[in-house]
Amino acid sequence: MGIHEADTAAGTGEALENLSDEIRRFPPSPEFAVQANAKAELYERAADHEGFWAEQARALTWETPFTEVLDFSAAPRARWFADGRLNAAYNAVDRHVAAGLGDRVAIHWEGEPGDTRTITYAELQGEVSRAANALVALGVDTGDRVAIYLPMIPEAVVAMLACARIGAPHSVVFGGFSAEALHTRILDAEASLVITADGGYRRGAAAALKPAVDGALAHGDTAVRHVLVVRRTGQDVGWTPGRDVWWEESLAAAADVHEPVAVEAEHPLFILYTSGTTGKPKGIFHTTGGYLTQAAYTHRVVFDLKPETDVYWCTADVGWVTGHTYVTYGPLLNGATQLLYEGTPDTPTKGRWWELVEKYGVTILYTAPTAIRTFMKWGDGIPAAYDLSSLRLLGSVGEPINPEAWVWYRHVIGGDRTPVVDTWWQTETGGIMISPLPGVTVAKPGSAQTPLPGVRAEVVDEAGEPVGNGRGGYLVLTHPWPGMLRGIWGDEQRFKDTYWSRFPGRYFAGDGAKKDDDGDIWLLGRVDDVMNISGHRLSTTEIESALVSHPWVAEAAVVGASDPTTGQAVVAFVILRADAVERADEPGEGGDVVATLRGHVAAEIGPIAKPRSILIVAELPKTRSGKIMRRLLRDVAEQRAVGDVTTLADTSVMELIRVGLNQPGRDPM
Ligand code: PRX
Repeated sequence: MGIHEADTAAGTGEALENLSDEIRRFPPSPEFAVQANAKAELYERAADHEGFWAEQARALTWETPFTEVLDFSAAPRARWFADGRLNAAYNAVDRHVAAGLGDRVAIHWEGEPGDTRTITYAELQGEVSRAANALVALGVDTGDRVAIYLPMIPEAVVAMLACARIGAPHSVVFGGFSAEALHTRILDAEASLVITADGGYRRGAAAALKPAVDGALAHGDTAVRHVLVVRRTGQDVGWTPGRDVWWEESLAAAADVHEPVAVEAEHPLFILYTSGTTGKPKGIFHTTGGYLTQAAYTHRVVFDLKPETDVYWCTADVGWVTGHTYVTYGPLLNGATQLLYEGTPDTPTKGRWWELVEKYGVTILYTAPTAIRTFMKWGDGIPAAYDLSSLRLLGSVGEPINPEAWVWYRHVIGGDRTPVVDTWWQTETGGIMISPLPGVTVAKPGSAQTPLPGVRAEVVDEAGEPVGNGRGGYLVLTHPWPGMLRGIWGDEQRFKDTYWSRFPGRYFAGDGAKKDDDGDIWLLGRVDDVMNISGHRLSTTEIESALVSHPWVAEAAVVGASDPTTGQAVVAFVILRADAVERADEPGEGGDVVATLRGHVAAEIGPIAKPRSILIVAELPKTRSGKIMRRLLRDVAEQRAVGDVTTLADTSVMELIRVGLNQPGRDPM
């Protein structure tokens, strides 16, 4: 299972002992509460679990209404609204146009260099229809998989919706992943077409994307027949005639009318790869009716969306689940006007985000704690130079937000006015699961607090028994929910083993959690071999496999060490092969080995996976059964006293590591 009880914060339960006395409380303001979409009675209504979700599902437009709600007879594979049929793109776009809202802005887009585009719902309908026709013309059928590897440009949203329009599940791969990572994902999903761009703008420069697609396809073993290429930067691209097609040309040749394909509610909408506890990423797949229900409902109640007046901004990249549920699907299903920004927060200045908030009058901002902590570090003076008074709600996602960052966010960005919602969920859950309801919940900085109406969660001990208030354990979800993953693409057994075997009958999230004295939930981080770097999931094993695939490396162990900005940072301990050791021993060469290995990880997975530090060691601490004791390595990585070593096979190992690290030139931290 990959859970190390002794390794976990949940195992010790200490993290919050000292905090409980100082928990601050932020009651909702009466002005906010009175206009809030969410009311306290929602919790009562959800007592009828299926009735509640059926009501939420009816907010979508169904081509064939469902009569069945939940079928969990083939647990853990759930079926929701299974006899209903609908189309995701119709729901996200066409129905708003049909309701007379075609002139409403769907997307305000701002490129990093400052170029802009404004796209109304009517225009979006035309674009998505053209793209759907173009896909069909290139041979994509309902059920075929399409890989999307794009920067944060409107075409990313258009491409996803075009796939959904023809019922072709999309698999978006984050643009920061390498050719190798892209290759594995294309292969696993057996994608027949890739949508990419020449490049995108990041940190003031054009960053190429197309070469990674060419590299991925150069393996020659994929099912890809065509690559659709959006021209964004104008940089030169390699071209394979017959295979590669310009997006602009193929859309120009396509009609702007397309009949959306109504699919069964359980038809797969997308696959999204995420890191698990093994070296192989998991293709989490979501289906149509249930996922859309949860996306629309959570987006409406958690963000209090008022589609007529709000300007909503979720800063996530479409390559992550947050970009799926809260950029593409949730807001568009609700007819929102949203901002999409291509670039990084510090380009051209560290005030870029706040300039955008002021320029577009952003009212709702949803981002990650790592960004918030970065802004804290840059100083209050930067946001203070902009008018942020349009903001009325702030959200956080991706990792636990420390109370200091929460309070700073509300104070400096939210002008002490805005509710802050700390939203816990996962790629697997499809949408937000645990979060305060703005206008209802008395917020506690640092805690995601309460399962949303319709969600049932528990914190359980080792034996699966619910823990009492004031105690820690493992977070489980006890009832099926519409947005839940339907499986791991092509690996039913792994789906069962990973999520459903540790606590039979319940979904195990992989997170440690604690209930405070009021029963509110505090997330304590992962209890498995999954790390969370800047809100992005990476697996220790995946990076270890990347390291050992290098000819110099004999063995590697990777841990996530606490990092004040990114939450966790990757620290690798590497044992070199004898010939490489000689290299490392030459003066000045040690650094070269480290730089080479960091570069190798970036090439195998992507720059986000690059270890912050690589420590060359002679031994790794292992138990008698040969399991690496990451807990001890974390102690070393975080430079604190090494904990209990009694279960080590060889207790002198930690001393060896310590001595080795103290040699000059050997500790790059
Ligand atoms: O550990 C939890 C953490 O992120 C994990 C899910 O990662 P991913 O599938 O990449 O999805 C991220 C965006 C939803 C969880 O298992 N996590 C996410 N949100 C929070 C969080 N931890 C604490 N508090 C949160 N609000």
